[in-house]
Amino acid sequence: MSSPLISTFFRGATITSLLTVVVVATAVYLIGSAFYNLYLSPLSKYPGPKLWAISQIPFSIAWTTGQSHKKILDLHLKYGEIIRVSPNQLSFGYPEAWDDVMGHRKHGQQENGKDPDFWHGEDKLTLVGSNRERHGRLRKVLSHGFSAQAMVNQQPIFQQYASLLVDRLHKACSNGQSVEMTSYYNWTLFDMAGDLIFGEPFGCLNEERYHPWVKLIFMHIKGIAISTAVIRFPFSDLLIKMMTPKKVARDIQTHHEFTVAQVAKRMAFPNPRPDFMESMIRAHEENRVSKQELHANAHNLIVGGSETTATTLAGVTYLLATNRDKLQRMYEELRATFQSEDEINLISVNKLTYMFAVLHEGLRVYPAVPTNIPRKTPPEGIQIGKEFIPGNTIIGVWNWPMFHNPHYFKDPEEFIPERWTGDPRYESDKGHACQPFSVGPRNCIGKNLAYAEMRLVMAKLVWNFDFELDPRSQDWIEQNKVYLLWEKPQLFIRLRPRTHDAPV
Ligand code: HEM
Repeated sequence: MSSPLISTFFRGATITSLLTVVVVATAVYLIGSAFYNLYLSPLSKYPGPKLWAISQIPFSIAWTTGQSHKKILDLHLKYGEIIRVSPNQLSFGYPEAWDDVMGHRKHGQQENGKDPDFWHGEDKLTLVGSNRERHGRLRKVLSHGFSAQAMVNQQPIFQQYASLLVDRLHKACSNGQSVEMTSYYNWTLFDMAGDLIFGEPFGCLNEERYHPWVKLIFMHIKGIAISTAVIRFPFSDLLIKMMTPKKVARDIQTHHEFTVAQVAKRMAFPNPRPDFMESMIRAHEENRVSKQELHANAHNLIVGGSETTATTLAGVTYLLATNRDKLQRMYEELRATFQSEDEINLISVNKLTYMFAVLHEGLRVYPAVPTNIPRKTPPEGIQIGKEFIPGNTIIGVWNWPMFHNPHYFKDPEEFIPERWTGDPRYESDKGHACQPFSVGPRNCIGKNLAYAEMRLVMAKLVWNFDFELDPRSQDWIEQNKVYLLWEKPQLFIRLRPRTHDAPV
């Protein structure tokens, strides 16, 4: 044989053997890790589908379908209260889990921290994404902007945008056309947040269109959802970088530059303002909050404070339009409480108990945060209820599946505000299972404000308009998809101005 032939033969043989070794090693690794995950892992005693226990892939696929909330409920109903949803992740689906998983710990034990892999880049500097040490410091600073007194001082800002919304809606429905409500709610809530954080609105309501910065927020949320699908895989950071198109990376940069410029503008205001930035700026001047933390939290407060509230208002509007007897009851409560629209403000709306029940039930049926925000157990492990959970396990409570579980709520798919006002038919409900703002040290800092804000907007809306669902938005709630938060389709509503002549 000639020598080139021999070397080609051997080269061929080497590549083939190398490939064989790689294939065999991969197979051994996969079989070994599947065997470990199924039989040897400390989480192997928890029930769940076998495929989900041996690989991260089924969980990630569920994330990307937009139907993860329904899948997790199905799994809880099939397998029980604590289920394994990936090799290193458990979902807790019973009412007391709120305190067990999210609550303050007893006897000096450390609570479960946020899962650091869930948060990327600047999000780690925000109140919601920070580790324990950063969180304590930031929460103390930010809480000033959320006190009862702060709310009283902020009242004119909320009033201004709620009235502008009503004004815009009167014009929008004057030709008898239906109005697309998700946009109007987004415009209102983003303008309010812009004013309370950047010191000026985005001008969305005035111009009746999305400001480019606000548009990019929705992309940011979807980006977090997509990266969440890959975070548990090796080299996830690299993967996310590779998956991000160049244009998106550029948009993110422009978005960041706008935030920095707006924060600088707000910092240059000569007089104090009763907004969420005031205490952060003071803390920055005293070196208790860094510039990066200031930027990250300004951005995060706008997202957290507006998207959630606008989503809830859209959901409640749909639910009222499809349950018009509840809408009528809400209107009757308004007419019995107020003589004129001028009496409706951020503080006086606290008297509206039926409306509170409507909003709380709206948050149960259609929670603004439908998924879970994962926690990680401390390295030494932790006692959760009767279970000892090993260290570094990802754990969480999923909102939508908990709120729709028929074991905790009778007629879980129905919209029944009366279940929160003592209706004996719903005595068996486990009300504590519904915690749309979470519980414990990392619960929503804006909870009271959100309820007041939503009551103010809803009260002014129902005072001014009767509304009906446009047939184009039939089954709107079913068309919603979950990518961390809801991806909402357009919601068309027929608004009819009320005259208040007729007795209620
Ligand atoms: C319907 C409205 C809202 C809902 C359903 C909601 C829901 C939530 C939830 C579930 C959390 C806890 C996240 C976790 O467990 O990790 C949270 C945290 C937070 N929310 Fe809200 N939220 C709403 C409105 C607001 C508003 C109006 C603001 C501010 C203006 C706000 C600011 C925050 C912040 C800063 C955190 C982080 C708190 C911390 O980690 O200490 N939220 N929210």
